[in-house]
Parts: sequence; C-alpha cells; structure tokens
Amino acid sequence: MYRLLKPLLFRLDAEDAHHLTISALHLASRVPAWPGAARTLTAPSDPRLSQSLWGQTFASPVGLAAGLDKNGVAVPAFAALGFGFIEVGTVTPLAQAGNDRPRLFRLPSDTALINRMGFNNAGAAALHTHLKATGCPAPVWVNIGKNKLTPNDDAVQDYLKCVRALQDVADAFVINVSSPNTPGLRALQAADDLRALVQAVVQEVEAQRVRTLRRPPVLVKLAPDLHPDDFGASVNAVLEGGAGGLIVSNTTLSREGLQHPNARESGGLSGKPLTQRSTKLVRAAYRLTRGQIPIVGVGGIFTPQDAYAKIRAGANLVEVYSALIYEGPGLVRRLNTGLSELLARDGFSSVADAVGQE
Ligand SMILES: Cc1cc2nc3c(=O)[nH]c(=O)nc-3n(C[C@H](O)[C@H](O)[C@H](O)COP(=O)(O)O)c2cc1C
Repeated sequence: MYRLLKPLLFRLDAEDAHHLTISALHLASRVPAWPGAARTLTAPSDPRLSQSLWGQTFASPVGLAAGLDKNGVAVPAFAALGFGFIEVGTVTPLAQAGNDRPRLFRLPSDTALINRMGFNNAGAAALHTHLKATGCPAPVWVNIGKNKLTPNDDAVQDYLKCVRALQDVADAFVINVSSPNTPGLRALQAADDLRALVQAVVQEVEAQRVRTLRRPPVLVKLAPDLHPDDFGASVNAVLEGGAGGLIVSNTTLSREGLQHPNARESGGLSGKPLTQRSTKLVRAAYRLTRGQIPIVGVGGIFTPQDAYAKIRAGANLVEVYSALIYEGPGLVRRLNTGLSELLARDGFSSVADAVGQE
C-alpha cells in the first residue's frame, strides 16, 4: 500500500505531506473503536519483546520518536501501528509558530531528512487537552522544551511549567536540550547547567506526585555532536541529577558523506547517515552508565538489524522517525517481527537479556 502512496506523498512539499499524514491519522484516531481494533491486529504479542521499566509495561521496545506527533493528536492511531510507546512533543509552555517555511527537506539519495522546524507546537495546554481526550494502550512520553523567546537563564522555569501542565497525562518526561533549531538550547547540555535542570525537573515531578497520583520518570535526550569528553560529562550530570533514563540521539549538524543537494540546507540531519553514529553513542553511554539507567537508542533505524544493534550496544528501547517517512507505517510491524526472530535466533529469552551483549 505504501509503495503506491509514497510517490504521491514525495511529490508534495515535505511538510505538506507531513500535515496530510498527521491529519489522516488524527481522523483515524477519532473513529470510535477503530484504533483499538487495529491495535489488536498489530499489537506486539511475543513475550520476548515485552519489558517492565520504571514499573511500566512496554509490549515492544520500538517507540515513536519525538517530533512527528508534536501536539499529541494521533496517539491512538500510532499505537494501532504496533508501537510499544509513543513520544509526543517537543512541547513548549506557550504555543509558537517555529521557523519560517520551508523548514523540512528530504534527501532521498541519502535516505535522510533535514529539518529546522524550531519547536512549532500548539503549547502545553493544547497538548494536555488532546492527551486527556484519548486513551492509549501504550505508554505516552512527553518531550518538553523551552519557548524560543525564553532566555537560557530562565529556561528551567519553562521545563517546570511543562511538567506542571502535563504530569497527569505523561508516562515519562523527556528533557530536550539537544534540538539544533532553538538558538542556545544545546548550551543547556553543559554539565553544570544540565545537572541543575535535571534536579529541578525531578524535584517538580516529586512535588506534583500527590496531585497527579503519578511519578513519571525523567529522561534526557542528548545530541550526537558533543565532543566525547563533553558527552561523558553530560551523561554523568544526567546521573547525578537523578534522571531515570537517557535518549541518544537527536539530529546531527554533521553533513559528512551526503550526496543530495539539500545537504546545503541548515538544520538537523536524521535518517540513514545517523545509524552508526547513534549506535556508537548508545555504546558509549552504556559504558558510562553501567546499566544504572535505561538507554533509548534513536537515529537511523530502518531494519530489525539496526534496532537489534542498538539493543546489543546497550539500549533497552529504540525509537524511529525518518524511516517511517521512507518505509511507511508497516515498518513498525516489520521491526517487531524481525526483532523477535533475531532474539530467538541468538537464544535470548527477552530484550532485557540482549541489552549490552555484544
Ligand atoms: C521533522 C523532524 C522533527 C523533529 N522534531 C523533534 C522534536 O520536536 N523534539 C525532539 O526531541 N526530536 C525531534 N526530532 C528528532 C527525532 O526525534 C530523532 O531523534 C531523530 O530524527 C533521529 O531519528 P531518525 O533517524 O529515526 O529520524 C525531529 C526529527 C525530524 C526529522
């Protein structure tokens, strides 16, 4: 089916194609009983794929990466594709338009995307309304950021506002300090600032615990462009700040090895060129954290082998974005089935047994 649809979608401007797809999934999410029925067909059923992390059940280690459903309008439809968890956002306290268009580019000959969206989103209150209105059979993570106009000195307050607004609908928070498209954001990855930010968010989650009857774990998403020493310092700051997990990685500013003319566009690069780089960073993060907190591997996962490599390098969970654009919605089921086969082939009885086993 996607083989027929893809040439039509690829003829549209990349962002128009994105909005069309999200609108269709939004509509599908609102058809009573449909997402639930579809989920029963696609739901990962192999117990090998299932994990319990932070007291929550993940039926599959394969999740949706942040940025595709920024406003949480299509969560049931994404769950129906077979995802084990869904990350929405990045959300900021106030709605903002993001950068001027065009700001999303395909690089088909590199199987990649470049984006400089700039956290276009409808704001925390709207995301709360959308998530409150829909149930989801899989954990829903909320990726939080700061508004463009908020100076870095006040950034912590923006993250705390997001926590207050969204904790009652979030199964986890992801602190995004790694988007290349909000000026100055990546500076928050510096160890001292990051430690303080993580501590503040963890404390706020604790403070909201009684009101919301929830205590979602706090994860931190890092960039792939840090110098190895700085990456190590940031990972330590994440641990010292009390975070419950780490996501590696966001998009890269590197343009190494690209063929397509759109490589000239500014913004974050995702897709195939990121596969090896992000797996290497998962491995580095696993060595540094020594299994103290779960790691989520993201970047250039197109095949079950790509996902499996990240798991064996140290990731408990993985996420996809760009491959969905190139491979279509059937990708999620193919990843689930392929991972089951790879785990069985190598004699692992669960994903958790394979984590870090290279
Ligand atoms: C168009 C686009 C928008 C994105 N928006 C966000 C975002 O809002 N927040 C975030 O943390 N990551 C965002 N990302 C990064 C992805 O979540 C992911 O980390 C990255 O694309 C690497 O994975 P992939 O190679 O599977 O795409 C975005 C990626 C793309 C392509």
